[in-house]
Amino acid sequence: MTCKYCGDRGIILKDDVAVPCSCVKQASLENMIRNSNLPENFINCSLENFNFKYYTKDIKDPETGLSYFDLAKYAHKAADDFIKRFLADPKTDGLLFTGNVGSGKTYLACGIANELLRRGVLVLFVEVSDLLDRIRSTYDHSRSPDDVSEYKLLETARQVPLLILDDLGAHNYTEWNKNKIYTIINYRLNQRLPVIVTTNIKLEDIMEYLGERTTSRLLEMCRLSKLMVDIDIRALRRREKDSKY
Ligand SMILES: Nc1ncnc2c1ncn2[C@@H]1O[C@H](COP(=O)(O)OP(=O)(O)O)[C@@H](O)[C@H]1O
Ligand SMILES: [Mg+2]
Ligand SMILES: [Zn+2]
Repeated sequence: MTCKYCGDRGIILKDDVAVPCSCVKQASLENMIRNSNLPENFINCSLENFNFKYYTKDIKDPETGLSYFDLAKYAHKAADDFIKRFLADPKTDGLLFTGNVGSGKTYLACGIANELLRRGVLVLFVEVSDLLDRIRSTYDHSRSPDDVSEYKLLETARQVPLLILDDLGAHNYTEWNKNKIYTIINYRLNQRLPVIVTTNIKLEDIMEYLGERTTSRLLEMCRLSKLMVDIDIRALRRREKDSKY
């Protein structure tokens, strides 16, 4: 379809000045979203639509002494603050979201990503185990040796203005894995490029999985937030959906 504003020339005149047409911005936003690798079901989540009803005021997290509701309020605020900080200066502290499964960690990380993508920020979302698999396949010469795209992935993970490392899990990371994560984190720390990490590993256990040098760097470059739920939000939403029928 031909753009009715610019006839697909991509520019329009505004007060006699040529400016990009909104169709171009739209197209590049779509491209940016595609390249960001955000999971399909998180493409529309936003901080505005973050629902606090899943977080009870009646249970306190013993570690912090805060109710699950208050934790969610602080985590949401941390996400909001991050966006503001990043827009003021992209070389800013990242975030580390901890908490149990289905508590909204990935939701908040993607809410941040969506907001920043719409403001023209390049974002890369990677699930940690997927990233490692894909990088490893580059080094596996039995697999398409001419495939440079995974090679680029590691470089992008290092250099992209905002990296989201989703679901840093309780895996038995090999030395090779640990080293790859280290090179990404270390590069980003040195360049002061923020990373947003989500994990359901307890803080004190991350050291065990990633080793000290990576963990200490992560703690240096990320502000901590915790999210807790008494029932996995996935299960709750499933029930909500089912009860509609
Ligand atoms: N506060 C929230 N408001 C609305 N939907 C949410 C919220 N938290 C999580 N969800 C939804 O619940 C599901 C599980 O959340 P997710 O962020 O994947 O949890 P986690 O990463 O902590 O395991 C997802 O489908 C997500 O979109
Ligand atoms: Mg998650
Ligand atoms: Zn146009």
